[in-house]
Amino acid sequence: MRKGLLTCGLLLIGLATIILLQTSGCSAPDQEGAVMQSPVERGKYLVTLGGCNDCHTPKNFTPQGPVPDETRLLAGHPADATLPEFDPALVAPGNWYLFNSHLTAGVGPWGISYAANLTPDEATGMGLWTEEIFIQAMRTGKHMGTGRPILPPMPWQGLAEATDEDLKALFAYLKSVPPVKNAVPAPVEPGEVGGK
Ligand code: HEC
Repeated sequence: MRKGLLTCGLLLIGLATIILLQTSGCSAPDQEGAVMQSPVERGKYLVTLGGCNDCHTPKNFTPQGPVPDETRLLAGHPADATLPEFDPALVAPGNWYLFNSHLTAGVGPWGISYAANLTPDEATGMGLWTEEIFIQAMRTGKHMGTGRPILPPMPWQGLAEATDEDLKALFAYLKSVPPVKNAVPAPVEPGEVGGK
């Protein structure tokens, strides 16, 4: 009788192990599922992790704080927003960086930079960009891959480390968001900073 119980117990343990092994084996399809994401889905995921909306999406201001304005997703610094006056001495090297409340304009020793319109609007966004231009810009830190240096706080140095596949996915997602017409101002040189 005892022997029977022991065998039964051992059998049960064996069965539990098999079930455990099988359940851990079950995670394989999930991982494959993640790899099977479409480039647009992958790009959306990377945009979320990369915090692109923090700087590139204008905000709605709620009692809980600023939240991304979904109607202007990734549309960049609002063309009609004015920056409050400030003392340029505040942003001398080693002092402060200042940001507007949308977090779309940043002031520092580099002057004033305005987060770009990443939507596919042809006139004011990235509608005319090719995948090659996007990858080149993120890899080199040059505007459109060949122009002036891309200014802080755009974290292109981190994006330069991304795989080609991930940069392509980012671009595919950016091409998929609704186009928003919003002409972001050109950056302001350090010498001309003073509350524009
Ligand atoms: C901390 C703020 C910040 C974050 C986070 C950020 N950006 Fe930017 N980005 C900027 C600013 C500011 C500019 C404009 C810089 C300039 O005018 O030189 C910019 C410019 C760009 C440009 C235009 C580059 C060019 O060639 O002119 C692209 C494309 C871009 N960002 C993509 C992204 C993507 C994709 C992400 C997320 C993975 C992201 N950014 C995250 C602030 C940010």
